[in-house]
Amino acid sequence: MRRIAVCPGSFDPVTLGHLDIITRASRLFDKVIVLISRNAGKAQPSFTATERMLMIEAVTRDLDNVVIDILDGLLADYVRNVGAVAIVKGLRAVSDFEYEFQMALANKKLYAGAETVFLTTPAENKNLSSSVVKQIAYFGGDISHFVPGIILDDIKQRLVNDN
Ligand code: PNS
Repeated sequence: MRRIAVCPGSFDPVTLGHLDIITRASRLFDKVIVLISRNAGKAQPSFTATERMLMIEAVTRDLDNVVIDILDGLLADYVRNVGAVAIVKGLRAVSDFEYEFQMALANKKLYAGAETVFLTTPAENKNLSSSVVKQIAYFGGDISHFVPGIILDDIKQRLVNDN
């Protein structure tokens, strides 16, 4: 049986932290679907879903069993429809836990056929988030330690405050 995992997130934009989780998930499962999803609790994204998809495509090109998709709906429905056995998320710190635990429980209630699997991030990614990347880029700071080099210019062009 092919074991499919879904790796959902806003990816606005994708960071080295996301790439680490996607890469490790790709070693654990036969196929990984990176799923660009809407977080109803977050403000309007900075990048369109298509832009985010193109950036993820660029940084996962070497991972043969990784594909990318865009979700406009409930994660649990998508997971059921594709027959995935796992939802893979990264856990950075204790502060992530409460929120992630809530989502894992809700998703399990909506669809019991998949498990949420948490991968702990390495220490260097502990404080890394798309929001931090956006803040630094906006003020012209160096984000090369936080995002894959291949998408550095795409992010800078969009986010640097040139007023
Ligand atoms: O990267 P994020 O913003 O922390 O990811 C959160 C995300 C997008 C995975 C979550 O908001 C989500 O699953 N959205 C899809 C809609 C849905 O199913 N919401 C209910 C989850 S309990």
